[in-house]
Amino acid sequence: MSTFQAPKGTYDLTPPDSAKFLAVREAISAPLRDSGYGYIETPGFEDVELFARGVGESTDIVTKEMYTLTTKGGAELALRPEGTASVLRAALEANLHKAGNLPVKLWYSGSYYRYERPQKGRYRHFSQVGAEAIGTEDPVLDAELIILADQAYRSLGLRQFRILLNSLGDKECRPVYREALQTFLRDLDLDEETRRRIEINPLRVLDDKRPDVQKQLTDAPKLRDYLCDACKAYHEEVRALLTAAGVVYEDDEKLVRGLDYYTRTTFEFVHDGLGSQSAVGGGGRYDGLSEMIGGPALPSVGWALGVDRTVLALEAEGVELDIPATTSVYAVPLGEEARRALFAVVTELRRAGIAADFAFGGRGLKGAMKSANRSGARFTLVAGERDLAEGVVQLKDMESGEQSAVPLAEVVAELTTRLG
Ligand code: HAM
Repeated sequence: MSTFQAPKGTYDLTPPDSAKFLAVREAISAPLRDSGYGYIETPGFEDVELFARGVGESTDIVTKEMYTLTTKGGAELALRPEGTASVLRAALEANLHKAGNLPVKLWYSGSYYRYERPQKGRYRHFSQVGAEAIGTEDPVLDAELIILADQAYRSLGLRQFRILLNSLGDKECRPVYREALQTFLRDLDLDEETRRRIEINPLRVLDDKRPDVQKQLTDAPKLRDYLCDACKAYHEEVRALLTAAGVVYEDDEKLVRGLDYYTRTTFEFVHDGLGSQSAVGGGGRYDGLSEMIGGPALPSVGWALGVDRTVLALEAEGVELDIPATTSVYAVPLGEEARRALFAVVTELRRAGIAADFAFGGRGLKGAMKSANRSGARFTLVAGERDLAEGVVQLKDMESGEQSAVPLAEVVAELTTRLG
């Protein structure tokens, strides 16, 4: 029988590498947890309409990349391709916005699914940590989120990332720009699909990576010249706040993002060591999304950072995370009686909060000591029949190599002291 493999575009996280993913999730969420963001978890699938309306009917995500399914009961669902629409749906459903405290600040961590062409850094199943601040229009909030993402990346030791910043205008000024851009684009020499895109999502044409398209876009009208006074002032304030916080960013008027719900502030974190899939994170303001999915007006802002790409960025920069060994004590029994005695000690250690592991399967001393070394444990406990007859175990400090006999009854107290 042939063996199974992970589905195309997916991969498994296995030890020891999986520890890096945990550390990245921890590092990204720590600044959020310290800044008033509460944890939210939503289902892995939602009504397909939520994403169609929220993310946008004309986006690649909705038209090409969603994993959709019809349940036996006839419901049309989609595996979530992103988190923002779900989190806002859940916040509205739970009436979090009515509890009085705005903004509602939430963070999340989970799996997302997009049927994309797989390549390095682009997977069909990937992992994000995200944050959403719902219900408040305040440039300080936009700045806070960008500063916290910057802080998260820095705490991981990343340095070669850049922050790209743009404003997409609001429902007053963007339609005017959109029309001016369409008029300009319709006169260009473009293929059928791109011409269709001009009519449904002209801003995305600006994002076209092909050189022959880019060449024709040099004189395209600039959104910057169309921003209304309110959007301009808002954007200037966000920029000033970032500068005051010492966060370096680049103005990038070509930054349009692949989701339709954005208004005003948009940003992306890109890493220069990642090749074509360089966006490690992205986000922005989405003042109209709540109304688009049937809620009240709730101006909001958020981001999601990709865990997979953040790990790749760490590797690209050669950053080694300081991941402490999970096991402090490793017990090696020699013989049946020692097995029972040392396993009792291990259980007691664990109950005392000391991370301990055990050489299972009755292996010989040599093999068991190899496992002890591999575990990274600071101490090993070895006991054979003669030790037990004397009521002691051999306690070895793996750092200094020094070994001493400790009375069985005192092992836990001794290790508690030694491990501080
Ligand atoms: P996004 O830019 O589509 O935004 O995704 C955010 C991050 O998720 C990307 O920068 C990337 O690191 C990671 N990512 C996306 N697709 C893939 C993939 N196929 N393989 C690996 N990593 C991927 C959003 O999802 C928005 N919900 C962000 C947001 C939150 N905006 C406002 N609030």
